[in-house]
Amino acid sequence: MPAHVVVGTQWGDEAKAKVVDYLAENIDAVARYNGGANAGHTVAVGDETFIFHLIPSGILRSRTKCILASGVAVDLEQLFIESNELVERGIVVEGNLLISEDAHVVMPYHKALDIARNKRAGGIGTTARGIGPVYADKHAYCGIRAGDLFDRKRLIEKLEIALVEKNVVFEQLYKMPTFDPERIAAELEPYIRKIEPFVANTSLIINEMLDEGKTVLFEGAQGTMLDIDHGTYPFVSSSNPIVGGVCVGAGIGPQHIDRIIGVVKAYITRVGSGPMVSELTNDDGEYLREKGGEYGATTGRPRRCGWFDCLVLKHAKRVNGLTEVALTKLDVLDGLETIKICEAYSYKGERITELPKNAAALNECEPILTEIPGWQEDTSQITQYEDLPENARNYVSSLEEIIGCPVTFIGVGPKRSQTIKVPR
Ligand code: IMP
Repeated sequence: MPAHVVVGTQWGDEAKAKVVDYLAENIDAVARYNGGANAGHTVAVGDETFIFHLIPSGILRSRTKCILASGVAVDLEQLFIESNELVERGIVVEGNLLISEDAHVVMPYHKALDIARNKRAGGIGTTARGIGPVYADKHAYCGIRAGDLFDRKRLIEKLEIALVEKNVVFEQLYKMPTFDPERIAAELEPYIRKIEPFVANTSLIINEMLDEGKTVLFEGAQGTMLDIDHGTYPFVSSSNPIVGGVCVGAGIGPQHIDRIIGVVKAYITRVGSGPMVSELTNDDGEYLREKGGEYGATTGRPRRCGWFDCLVLKHAKRVNGLTEVALTKLDVLDGLETIKICEAYSYKGERITELPKNAAALNECEPILTEIPGWQEDTSQITQYEDLPENARNYVSSLEEIIGCPVTFIGVGPKRSQTIKVPR
């Protein structure tokens, strides 16, 4: 029966994969429900580091089934790069990974379009993984789904339909070469044969597992502020990372969900364009970037850093109905004299405490910061909550009060072992 959800509450990169990996020990299946290879999920186990873009982080736990549900945009090439790397490192993938027959497949023309649009006026600085274009095709009834790959004739017909308009755009607007359906099908052929045993009706499988009393963990990619409906549009991704995306993107009813774990970084980061009110463009921002290793796992771009933003978190708590919080990267704040929290915005001379949804309004907001004392101790080896410095515990309590739900885990470093379970 129980379905747990691990959801990003900020702009992605909250270290969700570490939380998923930690929880996956006692979980029967981990399912991704949104996004694609735009994600970059990093897990450190012992001295080894794994970076996943597509495959759920649960794959590192041998008894956990891993599922790419229908809401995921599947990049076949990336999938096999990742699975080959895992196999080389002794991780069993075959038999442990399932892909929804309804999941849309990223085609080469999606990536080409994404790259071309990034360069044009209005480009938002995407990860260039073809994500916007693949979801656009899904909603324009001309996407290619995993289940469409195996009948060559039908695949070519679908590619022809998908390319009718796009080839005109490539040729005339972007002055780029056009795409040929036969050639795409031929190039994908080796991947298509490999993927066949993995493709299944994953909604049915997940529901059967839940009905049998097994526990399924849903791993969100990106974060609430990048949600296409509830983020800072248009500076968002094209899927629904919020908890509502689980029901749509995995095909389950909401009554199964009993835990909604919001992953909250102890400060904020963002990659790509868009408003970020408490952004730090000074030495403090540089300090957080270097100490936190804040460089994109997918694109290597430096992440923009800022102080913890209460308005973002209140919004995330509301739209996700968080039941608990996993606070990550607390150790990055070690050594700071004082820590600031953005408790409100100043907008047109007024103090506001709820997030304006309009990107233009957000750009006019200034942060109103409160300061709390930092701590000098190294927290990275601490394993018990009561051993954290008093000021660190005070910071955690302040965040708990602001968010309005309990912090149940605290991350004090990238490794699986650097996780504090908060006694409740
Ligand atoms: P796209 O998802 O590649 O279309 O990019 C849209 C926006 O979301 C850009 O600002 C990206 O930088 C951002 N984005 C997408 N995926 C992630 C992620 O996993 N972490 C952080 N930002 C992301």
